[in-house]
Amino acid sequence: MPMPLAVLVSGGGSNLQSILDKIDAGFLDAEVRIVVSNKPGAHGLERARKHGIDAVALPHADFPTREAFDAELSRIIRDHGVEAGTGAVALAGFMRILTPAFLHAFPGRVLNIHPAILPSFPGTHGAADAAAHGVRVAGCTVHFVDEIMDHGPIIIQAAVPALPDDDGPTLAARILRLEHCVYPQALAWLAGGRLALRDRRVLVDGARPASCGDDGLPYLASPGLEPAFRPVEPD
Ligand code: GRF
Repeated sequence: MPMPLAVLVSGGGSNLQSILDKIDAGFLDAEVRIVVSNKPGAHGLERARKHGIDAVALPHADFPTREAFDAELSRIIRDHGVEAGTGAVALAGFMRILTPAFLHAFPGRVLNIHPAILPSFPGTHGAADAAAHGVRVAGCTVHFVDEIMDHGPIIIQAAVPALPDDDGPTLAARILRLEHCVYPQALAWLAGGRLALRDRRVLVDGARPASCGDDGLPYLASPGLEPAFRPVEPD
């Protein structure tokens, strides 16, 4: 059975789209059962509906506490057949901290993508902070979510060059192209039962140590991206 997946978004949902595209192409054995956004106008909700997927706006301001919001969120997710153990929850540009109660409802099954090479530049402006710092290598991280923001065990990281003329948006755009590769890849490993945890270390069964690209989009990913998940040159 494809892995039941809930995707949480707050914005454009391009990562959601990359997940849907890899599912449609047959490379990610998962089914997005529900997309939830804390922002009613999030374009991610529109993308989900276009795909025939249930999409729910859950404005956090409607709830008295984080706990109340998260309780309703996990109820909606479970009602769509995403259960602890077999299902997973992918945060894709979801700008909310989740409570321990939510994480305990889906132990080891909540993933996040962050537009920086953690533990550098955690927080809401990872790519912009990296650009402002003048880094020469930037990137993204997919990790399991724990109770500390942008902190949980790292599944995959990918690096791209940062150029002297980059500002936040140009660097973020270069990183985003890689995000669209590494997130579906990490979810495919999870769906295939290939991830194991040893303390903070994530072991990926059968993965190559690294993959890299050259001129089209120079990158280094570790573990390596399988061929179906590698970046393609823009037309
Ligand atoms: C991505 O850069 C993601 O890493 C960050 O927020 C952005 C969301 O982009 N957490 P999108 O909504 O998936 O287009």
